[in-house]
Amino acid sequence: MAHVKQRQRASRGNDAVAIDDDDMDNDLSDDQRMNATDGHNEADEELEQNFTPISKLEGQGVTAVDVKKLQEAGHHTVESVAYVTKKSLERIKGISEQKAEKIISAAMKLVPMGFSTATEYHIKRSDIVVITTGSKELDTLLKGGIETGSITEMFGEFRTGKSQLCHMLSVTCQLPFDVGGAEGKCLYICTEGTFRPERFVDIARRFNLDESQVLDNIAYARAYNSDHQTQLLVEAAHMMSEARYALLVVDSATALYRTDFCGRGELAARQMHLARFMRMLQRLADQFGVAVLITNQVVANVDASAVFSADTKKPIGGHIMAHASTTRLYLKKAKGENRVCRVYDSPNLPEAEAMFSIQSDGIQDAKE
Ligand SMILES: Nc1ncnc2c1ncn2[C@@H]1O[C@H](COP(=O)(O)OP(=O)(O)OP(=O)(O)O)[C@@H](O)[C@H]1O
Ligand SMILES: [Mg+2]
Repeated sequence: MAHVKQRQRASRGNDAVAIDDDDMDNDLSDDQRMNATDGHNEADEELEQNFTPISKLEGQGVTAVDVKKLQEAGHHTVESVAYVTKKSLERIKGISEQKAEKIISAAMKLVPMGFSTATEYHIKRSDIVVITTGSKELDTLLKGGIETGSITEMFGEFRTGKSQLCHMLSVTCQLPFDVGGAEGKCLYICTEGTFRPERFVDIARRFNLDESQVLDNIAYARAYNSDHQTQLLVEAAHMMSEARYALLVVDSATALYRTDFCGRGELAARQMHLARFMRMLQRLADQFGVAVLITNQVVANVDASAVFSADTKKPIGGHIMAHASTTRLYLKKAKGENRVCRVYDSPNLPEAEAMFSIQSDGIQDAKE
């Protein structure tokens, strides 16, 4: 489920969302403070409405010991349990077939997974939070911005603005809903060493945000190989279960796969590993409603079909990436600092283009 606007809290003005515990405390009445026994208070509950904490299974007849086993296996939400197969729960030490069945039926009682009408789904979708890119034209192309609850892939040649957009969204995701934000923190995985915190300072100033708070709300990890990159998502799930995150960035999602797997002989293994990584990303988007923003490089398109099309470049990752990314955006260079973004594939956006520019204070509309 994506972030939805109904959860909108009292606006804090044009200020980064204060998600730190200290700050939360300031908003609490004495009563709420007294109730905050297990580290969760009413305000926390509000932040957690996006998902159902795994502890809720205890109310459905699952023992605390089994809940702990699930947690240790990386399941921090009821959704996470409800969305996997019985077989995968049985792989957890101490979870028998009968227990797995019981856990799944308990989870399915808490997480709606059946049919609903298109009308209901339509209403739900109209409430989905999108995160502004900073460029009005680009936002218009994307019907408001980058969608929470799904995977958006940006691909293109070097210097086309992929990393700049990642940095931009890491800040704008923290903004209040009414100015295009998602009132959540950001988790940033970088595989190429191009993460630059100083960019956040420039962007934060543009929105009159407190720089140190903006930086504190961005958790960063460098991934060193494709196994490590996958492992970091397990940690990400844990972090997302403890605080409200709105965005997960992976820049780049595919670069390490190109170096870790070489040649045709390893292609099948590479695609399998990549598929697993993408499945994990999708699961985080489903469970926590975060926007997942990934980048990808391009290679020369030598397909026969390319002869008849203008696409001389194609994104890496083949069918696996094509199917796993919900929205695919193709970035291209234009004059000066201007760039073009083309919707390459999307379930709801037409194949159109928009121009934007890269400025010192982040992404802006194109300049003449
Ligand atoms: N502080 C800044 N002010 C203005 N423009 C900047 C600033 N920092 C970087 N840029 C511009 O951003 C562009 C680089 O974009 P970016 O790093 O997003 O490329 P990329 O698509 O991620 O490329 P790669 O595939 O190499 O990772 C360059 O043209 C650079 O001039
Ligand atoms: Mg980059």
